[in-house]
Amino acid sequence: MTCIKSIQTEGNNVTTLSIRNLTKKYGELTALENFSLEISSGEFMVLLGPSGCGKTTVLRCISGLTDITGGEIYIGNELVNKIPPKDRDVAMVFQNYSLYPHMNVYDNIAFPLKMRKVHKDKINESVHKIARLLNIENLLDRKPKEISGGQMQRVALGRALVREPKIFLMDEPLSNLDAKLRTEMRVEIKKLQEKVGVTTLYITHDQAEAMSMADNIGVMDAGKLLQLDFPQKVYTDPANRFVASFIGVPPMNFLKFKIVKEDSLLLKFDGYSSYQQDKRSIIKIPETSAEKLGNFTTETVFLGIRPKDIILLKDGDDFDGLKLKGETTYVELLGDDSIAEVRIGDSLLKISNVSSRSVIPIVGKEAAIGIKYDRIRLFTNSGERVHIILE
Ligand SMILES: Nc1ncnc2c1ncn2[C@@H]1O[C@H](COP(=O)(O)OP(=O)(O)O)[C@@H](O)[C@H]1O
Ligand SMILES: [Mg+2]
Repeated sequence: MTCIKSIQTEGNNVTTLSIRNLTKKYGELTALENFSLEISSGEFMVLLGPSGCGKTTVLRCISGLTDITGGEIYIGNELVNKIPPKDRDVAMVFQNYSLYPHMNVYDNIAFPLKMRKVHKDKINESVHKIARLLNIENLLDRKPKEISGGQMQRVALGRALVREPKIFLMDEPLSNLDAKLRTEMRVEIKKLQEKVGVTTLYITHDQAEAMSMADNIGVMDAGKLLQLDFPQKVYTDPANRFVASFIGVPPMNFLKFKIVKEDSLLLKFDGYSSYQQDKRSIIKIPETSAEKLGNFTTETVFLGIRPKDIILLKDGDDFDGLKLKGETTYVELLGDDSIAEVRIGDSLLKISNVSSRSVIPIVGKEAAIGIKYDRIRLFTNSGERVHIILE
């Protein structure tokens, strides 16, 4: 296992990747706009975003398969904008593996080395090392059609890594696998990358994949990078409403509130008729945060709350935080866990982990919920995050 790491360091290949103000236009369409990303040496970076947001375009620009419209790409200290793809020392793995069907596994893995006219003995040594690392030594004589999807994926990884690239790019490599294999392979790929230590940019539209694999996650939408942080930070501290809703299953709940100026600045739940209002459904904004929200008076804002952070209360429970009442409309049984859906005014909220709670929601019955102030994330009507401290 350690031999691969030593090949890497022998070649002194581990390096940084730096993308600065990258812009890519396809005719009228701007696929990427001022996109910047710094990846440290040996880092596993995941770019996460919905289909069509420009992820593949980023990889194609790095590998040189696509001309860029503007900006700079550095591999290590070298500006590679004008360097042809074959000289960039970048390896790419795609969703569809693209193995050569007429070659056996050995020849598929050996192919990039043969192209570089590496000596036969060295090729043999490298192929066996990588095959051992990927646990596919017993498959070397088989053709791609004689192995499973997961094994094909491993062969594709082996072929990419065998020539010790400076940068490893992966474009949704697990999308063709079934759910169980996908979760197994994401652990394998992560472990493999840790062993080999190659600087990696991995792209996916699957937030769970991103959360489980990444050292850092870049969340993208419509050709722009919206947030770059380590996974836990993206989850607990989303930069805007798009990121908040893209990360987490079930996604973050959003409740509509109005900012009202009375004696002090208040947040009032917007989904109740006036007789339903009680003082627990109103949040007083502390002086220290009032300034940040002063401009939004009478505007709608959204309170974001993770499904696991909603507390189910018993009638009469004393609770220090936001308290709202509604009705349980559905309970979804998932085996390990159940998810409840509760209607509060005109909003539907999801509450997770309800199987392990002391209060069990019952469909059709009243539900009282509590949310601790420190679990509330506030977003403007246009989706920007406002950092305030509620108490
Ligand atoms: N060769 C191309 N010509 C024209 N438009 C393209 C081309 N490749 C991608 N696009 C467009 O660029 C946008 C980003 O595409 P892509 O990078 O493939 O997104 P993703 O990988 O995130 O799904 C999409 O709107 C897509 O239709
Ligand atoms: Mg793509």
